[in-house]
Amino acid sequence: VKIGIIGAGNMGGGLGTIWAGKGHRVMFAARDQQAAESLAKTVGPNAQSGTTVEAAAFGEAVLLAVPWASVPEAIADAGRLDGKILIDCSMPLTPDYMALVVGHTSSGAEEVQRLAPGARVVRAFNTVPAQVISTSPEFGSENATVFYCGDDSEAKSVVKGLIEDIGCDPIDAGPLQNARLVEPMTELLIQLAFVQGMGANVAYRLLRR
Ligand SMILES: NC(=O)c1ccc[n+]([C@@H]2O[C@H](COP(=O)([O-])OP(=O)(O)OC[C@H]3O[C@@H](n4cnc5c(N)ncnc54)[C@H](OP(=O)(O)O)[C@@H]3O)[C@@H](O)[C@H]2O)c1
Repeated sequence: VKIGIIGAGNMGGGLGTIWAGKGHRVMFAARDQQAAESLAKTVGPNAQSGTTVEAAAFGEAVLLAVPWASVPEAIADAGRLDGKILIDCSMPLTPDYMALVVGHTSSGAEEVQRLAPGARVVRAFNTVPAQVISTSPEFGSENATVFYCGDDSEAKSVVKGLIEDIGCDPIDAGPLQNARLVEPMTELLIQLAFVQGMGANVAYRLLRR
C-alpha cells in the first residue's frame, strides 16, 4: 500500500517505519520538512518525504498523525482527499492531554470526516501508545489490541492489514460513530500511564471466547 503520512512524530514516524519495513511505500510530511526528510533517509528506500499536499496525493491511504490543534490546518493543506482512505490516529485532547474536547455526541474521527467529507475515514491506532509501537506490541504471549471503526468496508479491510503489519490484533469496532466509544479509551490509557503511574508501556487486550 502507498501511504502518505501527515505528521512525522511519535505515531507517524513509528508506524511509517514499521510499514516501510514491511514493504509498503511511505511518504512523510511535517511542517518542518527537513525533519521529515531526515526521518525518511533513516527509514530507508521505501520512505520519502514531501509536503502535506504531496503526501496526501501520494497515498492510497493517508495517516493523519498531527496534534488535535493542527488537524484543521493539516486537512486543509492536504488538498483533495476524495476517495482516499484517511486513517485518523489523532486524538481530540486538551493541550495537557488530560481530557477529551469532543465526546458523547461526536468524536474526533467524525469531526475529521466533516473536514474531509469525501474521504473514507477510519479511526485506528489511537488506543495503542507510540512507545508500544516503537518497542513491541507483544506482552508475553499476547499482543496489543487495536480497535478500528469506519463506514467503508474496503477502507477498513486495508486498515486491518496495516494493523496486522505492526503486530497488533485488529478488532472491528463498527461504524465511525463508535469512535465516540473508542476515543475515551485513549484518555483512560493516558490517565493510567501518566496520572496513575503505570508508564506508557501499557496497551489494551480484548479477551474473547
Ligand atoms: N503518542 C502517542 O502515544 C499517541 C497515541 C494515540 C494517539 N496519538 C495522537 O496522534 C497524534 C500525533 O501524536 P504524536 O505523539 O505522534 O505527536 P508528535 O510526536 O508531536 O508529532 C506530531 C507531528 O505532526 C507534525 N505536525 C504538526 N502540525 C502539523 C501540520 N499542520 N501539518 C503537518 N504536520 C504537522 C509535527 O511536525 P511539525 O511541527 O514540524 O509540523 C510532528 O511531525 C496526536 O493527535 C495524538 O493525540 C498519540
